[in-house]
Amino acid sequence: MYENASAAEIYDALYQDRKDYDAEAAQVAALVRERKPGASTLLDVACGTGVHLEGFAKRFDKVAGLELSESMAARATERLSGVPLHHGDMRTFDLGETFDAVVIMFSSIGYLDTVADLNSAVAAMSRHLADDGVLVVEPWYFPDTFLDRHVSTHAVKRGSEGIARVSHSTREGDKTRMEIHYLVADGANGIEHRSEVDYLTLFSPEEYTEAFRQGGLNVTYLEGTAGAPGFFVGTRE
Ligand SMILES: C[S@@+](CC[C@H](N)C(=O)[O-])C[C@H]1O[C@@H](n2cnc3c(N)ncnc32)[C@H](O)[C@@H]1O
Repeated sequence: MYENASAAEIYDALYQDRKDYDAEAAQVAALVRERKPGASTLLDVACGTGVHLEGFAKRFDKVAGLELSESMAARATERLSGVPLHHGDMRTFDLGETFDAVVIMFSSIGYLDTVADLNSAVAAMSRHLADDGVLVVEPWYFPDTFLDRHVSTHAVKRGSEGIARVSHSTREGDKTRMEIHYLVADGANGIEHRSEVDYLTLFSPEEYTEAFRQGGLNVTYLEGTAGAPGFFVGTRE
């Protein structure tokens, strides 16, 4: 999904239209500061094109990002000046520094394939927490909350360019199979059709909780509103 510059550009156009990134950054900053009022440093794991980081940079003295996809990270680099953006995998990264807050937004953790991957990623994020730091994980849906056969639609138009996205999600074992079709139009070249299939894992609340426990963290689950997946918030035991 995030393999080339054009996919990253489409991602940015669609989700900045659909999500209020700055409000989400404010919400997560508040969750962190309720637990660590003086928090001044934050790492955004799987930061994508860096839009939450823009919001976090307004609220924390020092922020940094980690991202696996080079094309997504390239857009983050264009967007943010002076913010360290590290290339790495959430399961294995080691930046050699700690942060007051480590966050992973927009269900990015759901792209992991197995419970072992989940445990590795939460352990790696926990290792990057300062002693009284806060880990915030926005999960993917749970086996019980996932809406099987869900259809989602969205279209945006900017100048002479337009993008329409339609997705259909089904359940395959412990995975969501999300088939997405895009129609990408521009005035000069007409309409191009693209499609992709993404798999996200429906980890259970117990699996998330156990991953935090293994990472040496106490965890609370805060339920989301209006269909949002909520947040797991962890602090050192
Ligand atoms: C749904 S996007 C979210 C991006 C960004 N956090 C946002 O809110 O817009 C998922 C991101 O997770 C990244 N990702 C997937 N697997 C990863 C991994 N193992 N390590 C680091 N990043 C990963 C993808 O490259 C992609 O940028």
